[in-house]
Amino acid sequence: MNGRNQSLFNQEVSIADTFGLSETIVVYPGDCLTVLKTIPDESLQLIVTSPPYNIGKEYEKRLHLDLYLRQQEQVIGECVRTLSPRGSICWQVGNYVDRGAIIPLDAVLYPIFAKLGLRMRNRIIWHFEHGLHCNRRFSGRYETIVWFTKSDDYTFNLDPVRIPQKYPGKKYFKGPKAGQYSCNPLGKNPGDLWVIPNVKNHVEKTEHPCQFPVELIERLVLSLTNEGDWVFDPFVGTGTTIIAAIRHQRRGAGAEIVPKYVKLARERIQQELQGTLRTRPMDRPVYDPVEAGNSLTVAPCQKETNEVTLFENEQ
Ligand SMILES: C[S@@+](CC[C@H](N)C(=O)[O-])C[C@H]1O[C@@H](n2cnc3c(N)ncnc32)[C@H](O)[C@@H]1O
Repeated sequence: MNGRNQSLFNQEVSIADTFGLSETIVVYPGDCLTVLKTIPDESLQLIVTSPPYNIGKEYEKRLHLDLYLRQQEQVIGECVRTLSPRGSICWQVGNYVDRGAIIPLDAVLYPIFAKLGLRMRNRIIWHFEHGLHCNRRFSGRYETIVWFTKSDDYTFNLDPVRIPQKYPGKKYFKGPKAGQYSCNPLGKNPGDLWVIPNVKNHVEKTEHPCQFPVELIERLVLSLTNEGDWVFDPFVGTGTTIIAAIRHQRRGAGAEIVPKYVKLARERIQQELQGTLRTRPMDRPVYDPVEAGNSLTVAPCQKETNEVTLFENEQ
């Protein structure tokens, strides 16, 4: 058992495959709507997911956008029923691509959340450096997390997710507070632009094509829930949401329809419990080759081309 998890998991925990409030970890092998129907009203504190984007991945049948949105509406409706009055829903999405034209999924999903009475608190931009290289438009380097709450009285813990101040030694230079530090010693609010590497070329990468990194979800778990709360992911994939939850002494549950990903999720959760799952730490700065002092500032091929040009000019 991982020392990090001792307070909630003080005895051997097993991974249940059906939902029950007395469980600690649940991986339901099947359709999320089926398991959602078994979850009591208002019992989940955080529902966070990255749903299928309807772009023809191996686990999804590409649907007409209207049908896709109707299916999402059914799932979101059940999520709202099972969400606690102080709870949050976070939907992490990118773009749907229709014959080369992009449709931002958060924009088309927003009316569904609004119709169900949810209130949007943030539209977080998740920026990363790696991805597909496009030829006919700028390469996509962000996705969004839309965060909604059920009421105006919601859980929000800022202190556990504060990040280092840019100028921690800055002081008031005049007025009654002159000489005192002007910024919060616990760090600053991380804002709504999150620069977090995606799992391409990353320690957490598995065979799953659309995994999100654990640290992305840790920030949501820490700020939007308290210890012992339930965190649920209707499209749990490789179990990332559950891993982020149990790492911080929350209960974690999710559904996954593809058997090989169910197996992968269970294996990764077991590794997390044993303290052997390798992940990128939340507080590690993003790698900057220039700061690291080992970058080639000019691509070798370009350098060669420049040298040839110079040589030719000299002739
Ligand atoms: C975008 S991926 C989520 C990956 C996840 N965030 C992770 O870090 O591994 C969506 C997942 O939903 C699963 N899925 C699709 N339809 C589903 C359904 N109706 N119920 C449960 N899972 C479903 C897919 O197999 C896929 O693994």
